[in-house]
Amino acid sequence: MRTPIIAGNWKMNTTYDEAMDLVEELVDGLEAREESDNVDVVLCPPFLWLFSAAEYLEDTGIQLGAQDCYPVDRGAFTGAISAAMLADQCSYVIVGHSERRTLFGETDDLVAKKAAAALRHGLRPIVCVGEGLRERDAGETDATVRRQVEAAFAPVEGGQLAECVVAYEPVWAIGSGRAADGAEAGRVGALIRETLAARFGAAAAGQVRIQYGGSVTGANIAEFIGQPEIDGALVGGASLNAAEFIRICAIAARHGAGE
Ligand code: 13P
Repeated sequence: MRTPIIAGNWKMNTTYDEAMDLVEELVDGLEAREESDNVDVVLCPPFLWLFSAAEYLEDTGIQLGAQDCYPVDRGAFTGAISAAMLADQCSYVIVGHSERRTLFGETDDLVAKKAAAALRHGLRPIVCVGEGLRERDAGETDATVRRQVEAAFAPVEGGQLAECVVAYEPVWAIGSGRAADGAEAGRVGALIRETLAARFGAAAAGQVRIQYGGSVTGANIAEFIGQPEIDGALVGGASLNAAEFIRICAIAARHGAGE
């Protein structure tokens, strides 16, 4: 069975003090639970807080992720942070988040290069895919998700799939309080796995963990984690509230323990 994975995407939130308080509360709350063995927990704070967060997380089971990376290792790319630079601090990196695609004009091709760079440096990419409202209304959800998955995984090799996570985040569900229906998220999760299986074979595709993201809370996580093809969640707003995030992780851990 795939170990559930809950990742908190803090986006561009928290002051330094708020971030450290949140990390401390999460460490206290999550480490106190024996069941945390049955779920992988990843925190993705803003770049600036990664070093300090890493100190708090040392010797805990909680892992650190970045929210983005640049695919070239070094050079004249003002403002960018490369996967190579993140590799010492982080275990995971989010690539292709819809906010990066929409607000920063990222293409499928750039997302693929980011995923490849992450893997090259030993980081596990969390590859985000998902349709917008226009595509959903036009009945293009499946075609959009399939295209994004095929493109992002174009440079990836089958042996690397166990290191990869795909987050299905329907854009209309992000930050809207309108989560997708659990069964629909499960259906798209299955589509993502089939798309990967068509290229890499069922065994390799079966190793990828697929998350749902979009208005996940402690009240609805069970609906998603209960879907056979959904292995966790990428949590935005609710990851900024320690008690709520701990609750989400606890429910996923119980699922991971087979309860
Ligand atoms: P919300 O949980 O705030 O909807 O954000 C989801 C998301 O974009 C996580 O990457």
